Amino acid sequence: MNIAQLQQEILRLKKEKDVCILAHSYQAREICEIADYTGDSYKLSVDAAKVNNQTILMCGVRFMAETCKLLSPEKTVLLAQPLAGCDMADQMDKEMIEKVKKDYPGYTVVAYVNTTAQLKTICDVCVTSSSAVQIVKKIDNDNILFIPDCNLGSFVAQQCPDKNIKLLNGGCPIHASVTVEEVKRAKALYPDAELLVHPECIPAVCEQADYIGSTAGIIQYAKNSGKKEFIIGTEISIAEHLQYDCPGKDFHFLSLKLICPHMKATSLMDVYNCLEGKAGEEILLSDETITAARRCIDEMIRLGD
Ligand code: 13P
Ligand code: SF4
Repeated sequence: MNIAQLQQEILRLKKEKDVCILAHSYQAREICEIADYTGDSYKLSVDAAKVNNQTILMCGVRFMAETCKLLSPEKTVLLAQPLAGCDMADQMDKEMIEKVKKDYPGYTVVAYVNTTAQLKTICDVCVTSSSAVQIVKKIDNDNILFIPDCNLGSFVAQQCPDKNIKLLNGGCPIHASVTVEEVKRAKALYPDAELLVHPECIPAVCEQADYIGSTAGIIQYAKNSGKKEFIIGTEISIAEHLQYDCPGKDFHFLSLKLICPHMKATSLMDVYNCLEGKAGEEILLSDETITAARRCIDEMIRLGD
């Protein structure tokens, strides 16, 4: 089967089996094309909550599939590629944060959605990169413990100067690997381009940007901007998608280190095999985990509205 035939088969199977396919915007173009919903982590969790199909198939990473399961515990939630984790989500576990919380009594624990469902059970509210500032501003407590991403946390702290925000030493190794030197090189190569970066980049890189935002924010900004040239400081798939969507504009990669192996792991064949019941993994969480972790997600959706 060629790609187009495989896509047709996937569309047929998902209709026959009543499956809704969600794809994060870091997924390959051929996967986004067969998805019912695409978007950043926040949009996908809001979309997942509305889905009517009995089965949800996530093309993304494990914490995203877990978030779907938390929102729709009665549904079958499948992760197309079981190896697709997230280096940031794996950095901090429940036991570690239980100990840290003892040093910060009375603090509201804000967890980036890039965390495991287990860890979410002991946090107060989740945020995504697109909703973090708005949600932290709305929290009825000035003392915030923000986990795990210290770069996103610094960005939030800058936007919320009235809050006392404590950060831990976590983050996305891929975004955090981008250096100021790389920014200088890209700006020298493309002097007319606007620099758009994800807040998971280090503060020194973010300071050089014309726009800082989530994957969806970057896409929207580039599409709406009157400028014709952009340097994209997030996973390289976003520059690729934008180049297809805006043929009259030019998109450049900020760094070739911005390749997430987890997001790249899902293939169209994985999606097909998953629909055939030959691959993929069903996300299973205990009732206690679902009840405790879901509070954080519900709170995120309530405050993110
Ligand atoms: P978004 O919240 O922008 O979708 O990003 C998720 C992510 O994993 C970024 O590395
Ligand atoms: Fe996780 Fe970083 Fe990959 Fe995003 S880019 S899924 S934070 S490892």
